[in-house]
Amino acid sequence: MTDQIQTVYLNGKFMPIEQAYVPVLDRGFIFGDGVYEVIPVYSRRPFRLPEHLRRLQHSLDGIRLKNPHTDEVWADLFEQLIARNEGEDQYLYLHITRGVAKRDHAFPVNVPPTIFMMSSPLVTPPEALRATGVAAVSALDNRWLRCDIKAIALLPNVLLRQLAIDAGAAETLLLRDGFLTEGAASNIFVVANNTLLAPPKTHLMLPGITYDVILELAAAHGIPHQVREITEQEVRTAQELWQTSSTREVVPITTLDGKPVGNGKPGPLFHKMYALYQDYKRAVRAGGV
Ligand code: PDD
Repeated sequence: MTDQIQTVYLNGKFMPIEQAYVPVLDRGFIFGDGVYEVIPVYSRRPFRLPEHLRRLQHSLDGIRLKNPHTDEVWADLFEQLIARNEGEDQYLYLHITRGVAKRDHAFPVNVPPTIFMMSSPLVTPPEALRATGVAAVSALDNRWLRCDIKAIALLPNVLLRQLAIDAGAAETLLLRDGFLTEGAASNIFVVANNTLLAPPKTHLMLPGITYDVILELAAAHGIPHQVREITEQEVRTAQELWQTSSTREVVPITTLDGKPVGNGKPGPLFHKMYALYQDYKRAVRAGGV
């Protein structure tokens, strides 16, 4: 990798990251009043762009903020940002806040949103991790009731993820009222009775784009799967647990709260799904899907 300066986008301009500043009265800074997206870029093309833009619209609608751009303008801005940054595969981060205004909880009137984007090389989990899997811990899901909005106010997620870090683990699995919701920064899949289980998309979890890919691949390749509520007991007695996200793709969880998941090794269904995911990515790179 070279020492190329990272170029970011802020409010209509591309600039070196060192020159990008936001006023302290930005409502993102003051209230966490904004939404974001993370879009993986493969071979310099954003992955599942229409789906990410649809989720962005859902998040903006959820916080009653007008989408500042059409999908065409977004696509053009992403293309420019990707071209100005390093890496065939990138991690594109997009962040929109309700703009800069005198501190007041009420929405400001006629204030333009703050739009920030950056893109850096995508680092997917190392191969060794597929042999061992990762550790996870569990915690009560104490977040708000609109986890379907990709809100920049991530303090609960940050605190929950830190529980995993403190325990030397990679992720915190969240349980609400005795049911699995998701991870602190990922979606969670369970294998029980040789069936892949996924919690339903509700206001209690982020509708993951990777989650959709996994379920589509399961359907296309005859892997038995069900989308339904998953009890804590099912999580604790699972044959396999997986974590999915745009940056981690699909990763096996092999211990939960210090106890082995199944036999403590990544399971056969994980290996199958991992291979399908890589095939799918190859097809995406080739422009076939
Ligand atoms: N996080 N659930 C939560 C709470 C998340 O933060 C994420 C992703 C996901 C997975 O969604 P997707 O498959 O669309 O990435 C589920 C991103 C990567 C982040 O905040 O960095």
